[in-house]
Amino acid sequence: MTRSLAVADLAPDRVYKILCGLIVPRPIALVTSLSEEGVVNAAPFSFFNVFSEAPPLIVLGLQHKPGRVLKDTTLNIRESGEFVVNMVDGALAEAMNITAINFPPDMSEVEAAGLTLAPSLKVRPPRLAESPAAMECRKTVSLSFGPHRELLVGEVVQFHIADEVMDDAFNVDVAAYQPIARLFGNLYAHQGEVFELTRPTFAEWQAQKD
Ligand SMILES: Cc1cc2nc3c(=O)[nH]c(=O)nc-3n(C[C@H](O)[C@H](O)[C@H](O)COP(=O)(O)O)c2cc1C
Repeated sequence: MTRSLAVADLAPDRVYKILCGLIVPRPIALVTSLSEEGVVNAAPFSFFNVFSEAPPLIVLGLQHKPGRVLKDTTLNIRESGEFVVNMVDGALAEAMNITAINFPPDMSEVEAAGLTLAPSLKVRPPRLAESPAAMECRKTVSLSFGPHRELLVGEVVQFHIADEVMDDAFNVDVAAYQPIARLFGNLYAHQGEVFELTRPTFAEWQAQKD
């Protein structure tokens, strides 16, 4: 049996639950940004992915707080146009969860989570020294979808990648990297078993069938 559900019949919180439950696992961007007052903000976002490599674009889904109040990350990026995406591995998971607490804007999640800042090279917000891979980004465009949602597109301008995570031929060692992923609610996933699937050419595929 299959459950068929028309989105028009569902309240937004149900649609959120279904989408977040089905579109898994999602990578986590622990975003650092800087307020006009100079407070470094950090917050995780799993409505996050890569869009393209030339230009090198990433996307973030930013939800506003109740009453259309912007999250600190959203406000900081609106004001400065700059941020850093810090990828999250198992060792960073607990600190990442602390940064998701709704701290007041004058309080830095970085300090509260016991994280260490390292200077960025091309943007003002610093990166997190504990992250296995960080990407300095500049806002390209942001699109509003109604009063609650913003889609932010950012261009990566600088990478910082731990030596053990990537070799000189730009191969990422997934066993060394060990990124965690968001499932839904409070559930996360470590990287499971890795398997290889080579893509046959059309001729190879035809030959295999015969
Ligand atoms: C793993 C994880 C993923 C999250 N993903 C998103 C997301 O994609 N979009 C969003 O608006 N909030 C997301 N949140 C919630 C924000 O991190 C949270 O609202 C945070 O307090 C925002 O902080 P800020 O006000 O300092 O920007 C996520 C939280 C967690 C723990």
